[in-house]
Amino acid sequence: MRVFVAGATGAIGRRLVPMLIQARHEVTGMTRSPDRASALESQGLRAVVCDVYDTDGVRQAMLVARPEVVIHELTDIPANVNPRRFAEQFRSTDRLRTEGTGNLLAAAQAAGARRFIAQSIFSAYQPTGGPIKREGDRLWSDPPEWAAPMRAVVEMEQLLGGAEHLDVLSLRYGYFYGPGTAYASDGSVAERVRKRAFPIGRGASGLWSLIHVDDAASATVAALDRGEPGAYNVVDDEPATAEAWLPVYADVIEAPKPLRVPGAVIRLGGGPYAAYMMYELRGASNEKAKRELGWSPTHPSWRQGFRKELG
Ligand SMILES: NC(=O)c1ccc[n+]([C@@H]2O[C@H](COP(=O)([O-])OP(=O)(O)OC[C@H]3O[C@@H](n4cnc5c(N)ncnc54)[C@H](OP(=O)(O)O)[C@@H]3O)[C@@H](O)[C@H]2O)c1
Repeated sequence: MRVFVAGATGAIGRRLVPMLIQARHEVTGMTRSPDRASALESQGLRAVVCDVYDTDGVRQAMLVARPEVVIHELTDIPANVNPRRFAEQFRSTDRLRTEGTGNLLAAAQAAGARRFIAQSIFSAYQPTGGPIKREGDRLWSDPPEWAAPMRAVVEMEQLLGGAEHLDVLSLRYGYFYGPGTAYASDGSVAERVRKRAFPIGRGASGLWSLIHVDDAASATVAALDRGEPGAYNVVDDEPATAEAWLPVYADVIEAPKPLRVPGAVIRLGGGPYAAYMMYELRGASNEKAKRELGWSPTHPSWRQGFRKELG
């Protein structure tokens, strides 16, 4: 199959591209960097150097590649996310999710692609109601200003849902762990946990859905030819509170035990976004992705996944 990957050099793109090549797909990868393009070509794919905001360039690149499927993995997330600066730090990712998505969709349509798979995120569900969200549940369309990036995700999902002449799937990935992610043993989350700068709020009730980045990549490969258009939660089987996952994570990376502090300290120290993650975040169910994509994660839970991949 001819596949065009926008974001071939990012945290998931780097894991996805070798899987696509292994499965004998004819891959074109997009990057803004000539150096990274050369590195991509040495892996056996065709690379195009293009910025997604160069609308003519993207269109031309797709017309040449004639992809059957376009995969959109564009983000611009800093390696070290500061919860106090969440909205500011995600502004460029918000633009990729809105304007960038629009440009990719238009180019894919012009090139006659039949399917479009986009990266979304499980944490954009409205944080009210039950603890585990399914794909039909409401997204957070009217978040407060500190959570503005959620609005961009909802806008992206609306663009995807309204696209014509293409089958569009949005993959609502869990938080990535594994090589090249912030949760890798050399990543920014590990660094914070080693410094005991990632405390657990007492009575933490927020549910984190995690996913090994290779499992996110394998779900994306499955979505090339399986699954009706629509949204899919690509998360592991065990949404967990920070009280559950963080001590295990700290143990695996040989960090000191995380501090436990009152919720008020989380809010004071990390601001409303940190408090939301600790107390309001909802987890997600992967039943639909398992059933309709014929996929299941190699690491069904972060419990084994952390030990196997981070230890
Ligand atoms: N679900 C999750 O938990 C999740 C999802 C995504 C990222 N993250 C985290 O965020 C951090 C950074 O991840 P990342 O490396 O994927 O992000 P990144 O460095 O922001 O790169 C993402 C991809 O987007 C491309 N890109 C960005 N802006 C572009 C533009 N204007 N035009 C064309 N391409 C553009 C980059 O290509 P070039 O730079 O080569 O041009 C790269 O391939 C990591 O810690 C990762 O784990 C987490």
